[in-house]
Amino acid sequence: MSESSTTTTTTNSVSNTNSNNNNKRANSANTTEKKKKPIKPYHRIKAHANPQSDSNFDYPVSPSCYDWSKHYNKTLSEQPEKRVTIADVGCGYGGLLVGLASTFPDRLALGLEIRDKVVQYVEDRIEKLRKDNEEKNQYQNISVLKTNAMKYLPNLFYKGQLEKIFFLFPDPHFKKANHKRRIISPALLAEYAYVIKVGGLAYFISDVEELYLWMHEHFKGHPLFEEVKLEPTDDPCIPLILNATEEGRKVNRIDGKKWYGVFRRIEAPTSNNTSQ
Ligand SMILES: C[S@@+](CC[C@H](N)C(=O)[O-])C[C@H]1O[C@@H](n2cnc3c(N)ncnc32)[C@H](O)[C@@H]1O
Repeated sequence: MSESSTTTTTTNSVSNTNSNNNNKRANSANTTEKKKKPIKPYHRIKAHANPQSDSNFDYPVSPSCYDWSKHYNKTLSEQPEKRVTIADVGCGYGGLLVGLASTFPDRLALGLEIRDKVVQYVEDRIEKLRKDNEEKNQYQNISVLKTNAMKYLPNLFYKGQLEKIFFLFPDPHFKKANHKRRIISPALLAEYAYVIKVGGLAYFISDVEELYLWMHEHFKGHPLFEEVKLEPTDDPCIPLILNATEEGRKVNRIDGKKWYGVFRRIEAPTSNNTSQ
């Protein structure tokens, strides 16, 4: 297991935000002329989503009902049998997807993201990359889907469909009462085990040691996963999980620490009936 950079940025970002807000309040108090302010909700992206709220999501009743051509039109028009085999759960602004596109050009990778505006950003980012690289036919193998990954994975993927699944810098949900919102739990691991093929790999990383330990402990305790110790030179995904995402880069900038783990999906243990 390798360690590199991170400490939590929460304190800094909160204090910066507060001082910005204070300045704004002071400025507006000094302004006698009442100007119409932009309506904030249309300009800001909420930092966190509540994955347990009942937002409306379109989701297929089963994977066979979903039309993937809207995500990978070019690839699927040539290879209609191709399926998504890599999923980035909580993909954020799409840094990992962009790295995966060239690292695994013959695989389809999908980012799953719950926040509308973030999804829109990633869609636009991929669209631009596709246009800019049209001649080389690149970035046709990555896409993003707005969904709640805590609820709909079995609606989207067949049993054993995924070769790789990523949980990179997930929301820590520090308060004990909110631990149920964490993206790794025994119940969710059962769903992940369902969609990952035997031999497939799950990667996770955090700059919050407590959350890393939580994820590690839950994977370790699950009978359908075994730990794989991988160094950055062993697997091209390790440098990506360390450095390709927006969160990972933020942590690099403040020279913080990161902890990661990799677990392999294994066969269900056979029940050994030793009674004679
Ligand atoms: C801290 S960000 C990390 C983003 C990205 N993985 C990175 O490393 O830059 C966590 C992301 O997970 C998304 N998210 C949280 N819960 C989710 C869920 N249940 N389904 C899909 N996305 C979720 C959040 O909206 C957020 O963009």
